[in-house]
Amino acid sequence: MTYETFFEEVKGFGIPDPFFTKENKLYKINSKNGDEEFISRHVPYITMCFDDIERNNIQYELKWFNDDKIYNEVVPATALATKREVIELANKGLSSNDRNARPLIEYFDLFLEKNKLKRSLVVSHIGYVGNHFIHPQMESKFRVVPPDEGELQRLRAVQCSGSVEGWIKNVLEPLYDNPKALFPVIASFASVLFKEYDLTPIVVDISGISSSGKTTVQKVCASVWGMPSGYISSMLTTKIAIERMASFLNAFPLILDDTNTAHDTKALQQIIYMFGNGTGKMRGSLEGSRGTSSWQSVFITTGENNILEYTNSQGSAARVIPITNFKFVNKKADYFTALNQNVEQYYGSVGLEFLKRWKHHSKRFYGRFKKLMEFYQEDAGSNNVMRRIALHYAFIVFVGEVLNELFREEGIKIPINDFTELFLTMCSDNDHVDRAKNVLIEVLEELDANRSHIYGEYEPNNGIHAIVNCNGLFLTVDYVNKRLGVDAKQIREAWKTQQHTVEQKNKGKSVDYKNITHKKQTFRVAQVNQDFLEEQGFNFSRNCF
Ligand SMILES: Nc1ncnc2c1ncn2[C@@H]1O[C@H](COP(=O)(O)OP(=O)(O)OP(=O)(O)O)[C@@H](O)[C@H]1O
Ligand SMILES: [Mg+2]
Repeated sequence: MTYETFFEEVKGFGIPDPFFTKENKLYKINSKNGDEEFISRHVPYITMCFDDIERNNIQYELKWFNDDKIYNEVVPATALATKREVIELANKGLSSNDRNARPLIEYFDLFLEKNKLKRSLVVSHIGYVGNHFIHPQMESKFRVVPPDEGELQRLRAVQCSGSVEGWIKNVLEPLYDNPKALFPVIASFASVLFKEYDLTPIVVDISGISSSGKTTVQKVCASVWGMPSGYISSMLTTKIAIERMASFLNAFPLILDDTNTAHDTKALQQIIYMFGNGTGKMRGSLEGSRGTSSWQSVFITTGENNILEYTNSQGSAARVIPITNFKFVNKKADYFTALNQNVEQYYGSVGLEFLKRWKHHSKRFYGRFKKLMEFYQEDAGSNNVMRRIALHYAFIVFVGEVLNELFREEGIKIPINDFTELFLTMCSDNDHVDRAKNVLIEVLEELDANRSHIYGEYEPNNGIHAIVNCNGLFLTVDYVNKRLGVDAKQIREAWKTQQHTVEQKNKGKSVDYKNITHKKQTFRVAQVNQDFLEEQGFNFSRNCF
């Protein structure tokens, strides 16, 4: 790169008095004695002004030439106006330091006054900006400036390689006989339509034994939008990093591999909640006010264990579609080899084309989703959590139908009917979708296995977890609260409403506890419904006193 190229780029800009340049270095005339003062080894030019309409802040493009290289940085306005931040530009390669920071601030200020800059609209994320949709490969009046390295990596990954037909034939078709694999792939498409249909964000979790092909399927999900190796990253990261990534992707799916590698599996519950709420925390930052981050999208996770294993609440279950016991049947090693190679060759084109076609044909599908939703809600029966998932499930199936129609000419034929059966399997397979009930079963199994905590005839000396008398089994509230921790309130409420525990009245209010006297001591307890005990095959009554 020669200085001439750089000069071509900045030749329209004038250096403001009293500054001037000599041999591509910046000088200033001292106003008192008229001496030439050396300011900086580089001459920075402010070449463009970026207006971030969402965050209401201004950024500038700064260019300078050094060592045969053109430096080009986008910096917030404050970086040119405060001494500390001007010095920090040294980290980006500019020769700023404690000595010249003040004159540089003066220089930047005068430069902006002298030169009329081109203004351009910028955003810090892809996906929706108002009603406008940003895909890096589509023409747009916005320029995307990613806030950080991780986001930049994602932005670069959203690219196209190979044809739509090639992707369908070599990447999608091999999954046709496996609805558990197809579902997350369709969810990857569906993600960008969540806002239009006003759906809350949802996690699609793929779990199954090692080497069952979970990561391979995740690569297919990523290949809808871009280069899988750049698009997917590991779950080994912080909650804040996940929040920032979700916010950057906005409508595009967030795809993170392997929940087993999460720093702290306890944080997974918080992550599910945070993602499901669709907003991050408001955080101040040095670059000025950073607005609340938000997203409306799908989060595709994988792991050997169902992500709900790490959580303990009904709320999480309503935010996750768990695809469990994931596997491919009768597939040889070369099947995986081929798939893993194909996703590196065919990616991105289908997603881009999907957006274009959807824009033109979306009206055609009006009303179809509602029918599917009613169908799946009926299938979910009285299970509230499944009913809530049913909405998202139906939407993803709907997008499967849309794909079949939009890409009929290219030969997409996703076997949609298989998803009905998958949903029913999920209802019955997935005990986690009814978390509260399972926690109670766990508690009862523990009691059954270790009866020394039950106060029947003799008082336990290692903690009273339950009391048994002729009226039935009573869990001490003290124990239950300790056992359930932060989720105690929620789970006890679910037990009561599902009639796993007996409803009591206290001053006219419906509660799950009452006081009983046993062996002359009073205990606050929750009574387990006798029908529930029988239904689950427990019998504590041989200790009946
Ligand atoms: N790049 C690749 N080339 C060829 N085969 C691969 C490649 N990556 C994975 N495989 C094979 O594909 C199969 C599925 O691997 P994959 O990594 O998708 O499984 P997984 O379910 O994610 O496993 P884990 O739980 O260990 O992460 C394995 O037999 C693996 O050896
Ligand atoms: Mg894996």
